[in-house]
Amino acid sequence: MTVRLGDEAPNFTAETSEGTINFHEWLGDSWGVLFSHPRDYTPVCTTELGVTAKLKSEFDRRNVKVIALSVDPLDSHAGWAKDIEETQGAAVNFPMIADPDKTVANLYDMIHPNASDTTTVRSVFIVGADKKIKLTLTYPASTGRNFLEILRVIDSLQLTAKHSVATPANWQDGDDVIIVPAVSDEDAKEKFPKGFTAVKPYLRITPQPNK
Ligand code: BEZ
Repeated sequence: MTVRLGDEAPNFTAETSEGTINFHEWLGDSWGVLFSHPRDYTPVCTTELGVTAKLKSEFDRRNVKVIALSVDPLDSHAGWAKDIEETQGAAVNFPMIADPDKTVANLYDMIHPNASDTTTVRSVFIVGADKKIKLTLTYPASTGRNFLEILRVIDSLQLTAKHSVATPANWQDGDDVIIVPAVSDEDAKEKFPKGFTAVKPYLRITPQPNK
């Protein structure tokens, strides 16, 4: 199944390292990051899960729950989690889905047969509090993801959900933002009391509203 931006995140019930989880119930009112890795006991994935564990407080303060997935079974996840703690200096502090029959992987189109017909690619899905898909990413097995970039996108998404702004290239939290074209100059004067600069009529820059 292809999962696209704006779609409702497909729901599932799965066995995880933290017990059986119904995805939508587990999310509750939180945002979510669902990410897959090709196999347990692989080097790049080991670093990715360690980094994600270390960033837990950053995900928490954005009201985001993280959940990982591979097609390996639960006993494999348990053994590998010990290695992650030992080698990365952080215990895995989020559920790891065991998906040996590939139910969730197929639901989210995480298996790309021309890359591998047996393992998942590195997919990332950001799910909003409304259960809608806000971002999809697909990385190859050999490239570890940048989880600071995932946090940056969440910052942008959460900002744009509250204010009529978009974020420019390489934006970081605190930088100036762009007023969306749907807002007239007249309305912008009211909505953005810090003022704005019209570099072009379609490119209007304003300080980040919530700072
Ligand atoms: C890894 O996760 O480390 C990995 C997986 C497949 C190919 C290469 C690296």
